[in-house]
Amino acid sequence: MRILITGGAGCLGSNLIEHWLPQGHDIFVIDNFATGNREVVPEVDGLTVKEGSVADPALVDDCFNAFKPDVVVHAAAAYKDPDDWLEDSRTNVIGSIHVARAAKLHEVKRLINYQTALCYGRPQQLPIPASHPTAPFTSYGITKTAGEQFMLMSGVPTLSLRIANVTGPRLAIGPIPTFYKRLKAGQNCFCSDTSRDFLDMSDFLAFMDLAIKADAPTGVFNISTGEAHSIKEIFDIVSDFLGLKAIEVPVVPPAADDVPVVSLDATETYDAFGWKAKIGFVDTVRRQLVWYDQYGISDVFSHLKQKFDSK
Ligand SMILES: NC(=O)c1ccc[n+]([C@@H]2O[C@H](COP(=O)([O-])OP(=O)(O)OC[C@H]3O[C@@H](n4cnc5c(N)ncnc54)[C@H](O)[C@@H]3O)[C@@H](O)[C@H]2O)c1
Repeated sequence: MRILITGGAGCLGSNLIEHWLPQGHDIFVIDNFATGNREVVPEVDGLTVKEGSVADPALVDDCFNAFKPDVVVHAAAAYKDPDDWLEDSRTNVIGSIHVARAAKLHEVKRLINYQTALCYGRPQQLPIPASHPTAPFTSYGITKTAGEQFMLMSGVPTLSLRIANVTGPRLAIGPIPTFYKRLKAGQNCFCSDTSRDFLDMSDFLAFMDLAIKADAPTGVFNISTGEAHSIKEIFDIVSDFLGLKAIEVPVVPPAADDVPVVSLDATETYDAFGWKAKIGFVDTVRRQLVWYDQYGISDVFSHLKQKFDSK
């Protein structure tokens, strides 16, 4: 299959490449390296990389024209500065429009869009079903939701995935890398009094193998475990993993731009795809920590405004 991945140098995109290249798929990446890493998309057979932004319509069109993809995975997203509404809009709204239009023009068979659980805003029900109304309230959530709507109305068979917190190689966002990096450096931490749904990369990749099949369902689905686990539980697993005993850590109320509990109901995904997460929560976190021990850790990004001080 010929698969074009926007944002292919990011965490999810690069894991897809490592997973799919050995299966014999041809892959084309568009990435501006805003949060992705050039080194994870080396020049190897079957992989073409174009540096540039999905917000550039001529670049997007040229790439589709040259590569003629069967399937597009739209993973490019801007989120690293929550106050940079314009960049979020350029990438997540305008960029998504360019990708959707090019997919339509070049008769792409399937468009797979990655969506954040922040599209649901503060949920009225837990775990959140995919039919829950969208009510985003951050720049990232608002712009990703607008982009998703354009993709869904593009006329291209579109599968939009509302994805839980996926852990795996090169994860550089969220509490696991943050606690690992800070605790190892002897720095202070706090836990936001929030809970999230964590999904292991191997489960995510198993789903993506089903998602690119020609006869796979389209529409909107949650990709998740359906379980909520607190940030404090993660802190405890990380400190235990690092051999640090009985560390006191402040648990602080969620920030204004945060959501207390997110867990996504994947029952409909199971019914439609026969897919279900297999790796449990503690193993998911520990597998991530083993990876950091082996390969190290890069800069940690956040789409939230509440950040640590430098101590
Ligand atoms: N990782 C998760 O747990 C998770 C959960 C929910 C949704 N998502 C969504 O999945 C997608 C991938 O997330 P990720 O965790 O791999 O993030 P990531 O930051 O590692 O990857 C995003 C990639 O997009 C690239 N990019 C940013 N702006 C671009 C632009 N204008 N043009 C081209 N490339 C651009 C970045 O350089 C990066 O390589 C995003 O759309 C994100 O919203 C991820």
